[in-house]
Formats: sequence, C-alpha cells, structure tokens
Amino acid sequence: MKALLISSSPHLEESSTFLLAKEVLRGLGEEGVSCEEMHLHDYKVSFCESCEACHKKILQCPLKDDANTILRKMLDADGIVLASPNYINQVTGSMKVLLDRSSHFIHCKRLLGKYVAGVVTSGSGFADMVLEYIGYYGHICGGQYSGGVSATRVFGKDKKDEAFQLGKRMAADLLAKKLYPDQMKLIEDNKKHFAQIIKLRKNDWREEYQYWVEKGWL
Ligand SMILES: Cc1cc2nc3c(=O)[nH]c(=O)nc-3n(C[C@H](O)[C@H](O)[C@H](O)COP(=O)(O)O)c2cc1C
Repeated sequence: MKALLISSSPHLEESSTFLLAKEVLRGLGEEGVSCEEMHLHDYKVSFCESCEACHKKILQCPLKDDANTILRKMLDADGIVLASPNYINQVTGSMKVLLDRSSHFIHCKRLLGKYVAGVVTSGSGFADMVLEYIGYYGHICGGQYSGGVSATRVFGKDKKDEAFQLGKRMAADLLAKKLYPDQMKLIEDNKKHFAQIIKLRKNDWREEYQYWVEKGWL
C-alpha cells in the first residue's frame, strides 16, 4: 500500500502544514503503508487551458510541464494526502491549479477505490471550508475521504496526535478497503450524473467514453 503527500505551501520543509502532514505520514507508516512526499512548489504546473485534449486522449495534456508526472503519481497511490495552507478560505492557488489539471479524474472517477485525506493550517484557525473542499474533490473523483486535520500555524502535541491518528485511520481504510455507505452514495450519484455527460460528449471525449465502456459503466 502506498500513500502520496502533496504539500502546497511555498515554505516547503519549514511549512506548518507540511509538518502537520508529516504526522499523518507517521501514522500511515506505523501501519506499514509506504509514503512518498512532494512539495508542489518544486514542480512546474501551468494553468489549465480548457482545450479538452485530456478528455479526448487520456492524460495527453499538450502543456509541457510536470502536471502529468504528479497525476500519474496520484493514480499510482492508494491514499492521497492533500496538504494546503488556508489561503482566503481555500486551498492555495498552486493546489487549485493542479486540481484543475486533473479534471479527467472527475470525468472517469479515477480515484475510485482510493482514499483522500486533508491537512490544513491557518493563521486564525478557520479551516473547515478548506477541508470540506478537499473532501469534495476526493468524492467527485470517486475517492472516499478518510478525514482531515486542521490547526493554527503554531500547533502543539494535541494536533500532532490528531494528525497521527488520522494517518492510522487512513491506513486502516486502505488495508481494509473500507466502504463508507454515505460516501459511496454520493460517489454513485455523481457517477450517474457523469454517465449522462459522457454519453452526450462521446464523439468529442473519445478515450474517456471508451474508458467508461471498458469499465462496463454504460
Ligand atoms: C495569500 C495568503 C492568504 C491567507 N489567507 C488566510 C485566511 O483566509 N485565513 C487564515 O486564517 N489564514 C490565512 N493565511 C495564513 C496562512 O494560512 C497560515 O499562515 C498558514 O499556517 C501557513 O502555512 P504554511 O507554513 O504551511 O505555509 C493566508 C496566508 C497567505 C500567504
């Protein structure tokens, strides 16, 4: 089992968000999950140009940057930890740019069977909207949400413990392939919605349509 941490703070190793996320990885590691960590700011990810090339030919974005490398790492992981500082009650712009580049994951529910967790730190502590957004992103890509942890920029042992426990919970989800019925209902409802869109656009989004056919979803 593998987990991938994507941390979007420009403070890299000094980042509060990253330090909290490391506790999640510690919890995962203790249960035998191998972990890879990456700082988004070490990579070049450009704005999505909405050309739809990635829907016509899966993961064939014409932009020459690192987005595909990161997206392939996400596909290769069983668990994805998205860690971001709160920037105006949202993830950082850099994280949002990466998520925009992953719209094929939404169309084809590419995180089905995977688990997502969120880690957020804030100056004043209002992080719920950000964690909710990370959970929402997981769901629309087909992934279940193991949960989130948030803290103010300076945090103590209680928050570290909470993050560590989140890592252990995510590991338990991964190892048992746990199904949360309420989350699976949301995911299934969203999948039904997308089945209509994929059928409507089948002549444009050829490979995505083919993906759905091969999965037996249409
Ligand atoms: C552009 C920007 C926007 C921010 N917006 C908020 C905000 O809306 N609410 C808040 O509590 N903190 C806000 N902060 C503070 C950061 O969320 C906080 O310092 C965070 O812990 C930094 O994490 P890091 O060390 O991982 O980069 C903002 C910081 C920046 C640079």
